[in-house]
Amino acid sequence: MIDRRVVEEIKYRNDIRDVISQYVTLKRAGSNYNGLCPFHSEKTPSFTVFTAGEGNFYCFGCGAGGDVVTFVMRAENLDYPSALEFLAKRAGIDIPEDSAKSQGEVSRTRVMDMNREAARFFHATLVSGNYPEALSYLRDKRAFPPALIRHFGLGFAPNEWGSLVKHLKSKHFSEEEMIAANLAAKSAKGTVYDVFRNRIIVPILDINGNVVAFGGRVMDDSKPKYLNSTDTPAFKKRRTLFALNFAKDLCAERMILCEGYMDVIALHGAGFSNAIATLGTAITEEHARLMKRYTKEVVICYDADEAGQRAADKAFSLLSEVGLETKILKVEGAKDPDEYIKKYGAGKFKLLLEGSRTRFDFKLGSILEKHDITVPLEKIRAADEAAELIAGFYSAVERDIYIDTAARKLSVPTDTLKADVQQKIRSRQKKENKEELRRVMSESAGYGNRTNPDYVRNPAAASAEETILGLILYSPELLGGIEASGELREETFQTEFNRRVFAAIRAIYNDHQTLEEGLLSERFTPEEMGRIIGMKVRRTALTNNGEDVLKECIARLQNARTKGNNIEDIEDILGAKRRKQNE
Ligand code: GTP
Ligand code: MN
Repeated sequence: MIDRRVVEEIKYRNDIRDVISQYVTLKRAGSNYNGLCPFHSEKTPSFTVFTAGEGNFYCFGCGAGGDVVTFVMRAENLDYPSALEFLAKRAGIDIPEDSAKSQGEVSRTRVMDMNREAARFFHATLVSGNYPEALSYLRDKRAFPPALIRHFGLGFAPNEWGSLVKHLKSKHFSEEEMIAANLAAKSAKGTVYDVFRNRIIVPILDINGNVVAFGGRVMDDSKPKYLNSTDTPAFKKRRTLFALNFAKDLCAERMILCEGYMDVIALHGAGFSNAIATLGTAITEEHARLMKRYTKEVVICYDADEAGQRAADKAFSLLSEVGLETKILKVEGAKDPDEYIKKYGAGKFKLLLEGSRTRFDFKLGSILEKHDITVPLEKIRAADEAAELIAGFYSAVERDIYIDTAARKLSVPTDTLKADVQQKIRSRQKKENKEELRRVMSESAGYGNRTNPDYVRNPAAASAEETILGLILYSPELLGGIEASGELREETFQTEFNRRVFAAIRAIYNDHQTLEEGLLSERFTPEEMGRIIGMKVRRTALTNNGEDVLKECIARLQNARTKGNNIEDIEDILGAKRRKQNE
C-alpha cells in the first residue's frame, strides 16, 4: 500500500473540482457544483460535487459517488494504486518506489519487469532456430511473416519444465515472484516449474507497452488449445484489451473487436491496425468504457458460428449502452476473420468492413430471413417486428429513414408502418414510465440491491443503519460519544455490508483520531463507495443531524425485527422517505 502521507499529498494537490472539470462541465449551485453525470446518460444534471472537507462527488441519478480517487478509478477505468499514480503524475508528485509495494506482495513493476524478461526469452527461443516446428507453425499454418512475428514479439516456450525458471533466476527473480506473475507454479512436491510449455507465446501488453500477461497456444489439437495468464498484480483481464497499445492511435474513427488474439494478429498483419480483442473472456462493461475513450465506432467481428453470433449480440448491447456506434460484421465462407483473410485476402475483408451493417440493417435482415413475406400472416408479423425495432431508435430522423427502408423491403405502405411505429412508441413510453416507478419504489425498498443484498430482508434495520452511518460520516465527532457509551457495536448492525462499513469507520477513527474518507476508498469498491457517500450526502440535505436523531435510530435498530418484514414495513419506509423529501 502506498504511504498514507503520500496519499494525502496526492489528494491535497488534486482539487476534486479541478479534476472533475476535465470530464464534466460544472455549474455552481450554492456551495456545490452540478453537472451531467459522466457515468450514466442523463439530460438533467443530478451529478454533484461537494467541495466541503476532502471533497466528494455523488450522482443522485445512478448512485456513483466517492472522493477524487474513486472518481478517477471510475472515469479512467483504473484500480486504486493506478488511480493514485495517475493523480500523482497530474500533480507532479513522485511516488517513492518501495511505497508502491504492499507488504508480502509482489509489486506491479516487479511483475512487469519479469514479464519483459520472459517475453525476451520466449522470443529469443523462437527465433534461435532450435525449434523449427514452432517457426513453421507460425509461418506455414498461420501465415504470419517474420515482420509480424517481430512486431507482436511472438515467442515459443520449449517443452521443458524449467527453462524459463532457470533463465529468470539468472536475472535475479525469486520463485515467489515467478509464481505471483503466473509464469511458474509449485508442484505438490515443492518443485517450481514453468507454466507455459511447448506453446506458441503471445505477450500481452498494456496501453503503455508494459508486458502484463501471456497467452500460449498449442501447435496441434491437444487441449487446452489456449492457456492464458490468470489475473496478477499487473493484469486484470476484465479491463485489458489485446493490441490496444498498437490500435490506440489508429482507431479514432473505428475499432474492430475480435474474439481471439490470433484474429487480431492476422488483421494487423493485413493492415487493419485498429483491431483488438478481449482475452479469453466475454466483453465487460469496463472494456466497453475503455473502448469509448479511444473510438467512436466499433465493428464487432466475432466467429461466424452460433456461439460467436450470440456473443456478438451481447457485445452489441453492451457497447451501445456506453454510447458507441456499433456494427456487426459476419464473415461468410470462413469461421473467423483470421481464416477469412487467409482464404480471400485483405481486399475482400475491406469490402466486407465497408459493407458492415448497422444494427438496423442487421436486425431487419434477420426479420426478413425469418419470415416468408409472400405469406400474408407472415408479412404482418414481420411488419410488426420491424415497427418494434424502429420504435427503439430515439432520433426521429433515423426512424423516418428506417421506416422508408423497411416499408420498401416489406412492400407495405410507408404511412401504415409509420402509424404502427408511433403506436409502439406510445406503449413503450407507458412501459418505461411504469418501470421507472417500479425501479424507484424497489430501490427505496432495497429490492435488487447489489451493494447491500441484506437490505431486502431487513429494510427497517438497514434504513436505520444507513441513517446512523450517514450521521457519523457527516459529523465524525459523534463517534466519540458512541465509543464512550458502548450502545452501538458492530453486532448491532444487522446487514453485513453496513456492519463492514461501521467496522472500517471505527478502525480508521481509532487509528487516526479523525475520519479520513480517503482511507475508506482503499477498502471499498467504487460501487460501494457510491453507496457510502450517498448515506452522507442524504444527511447534507437535512437540518437535524444531531445526537437525538442518532439515539432514535440506534433504538430503532435495536428494536428492528431480524426476520419477517412485511409490506407494511416497506410502506413505512417509503412513507418516511416521502415525508422527508417534502420537508
Ligand atoms: P485458432 O484456432 O488459433 O484460430 O483460435 P481462434 O483465434 O479461432 O480462437 P477461438 O475462437 O478458439 O478462441 C477465442 C479466444 O478464446 C482465444 O483467443 C482465447 O483467448 C480464448 N480461448 C479459446 N480456447 C481456449 C482454451 O482452451 N482455454 C482458454 N483459457 N482460453 C481459450
Ligand atoms: Mn481462428
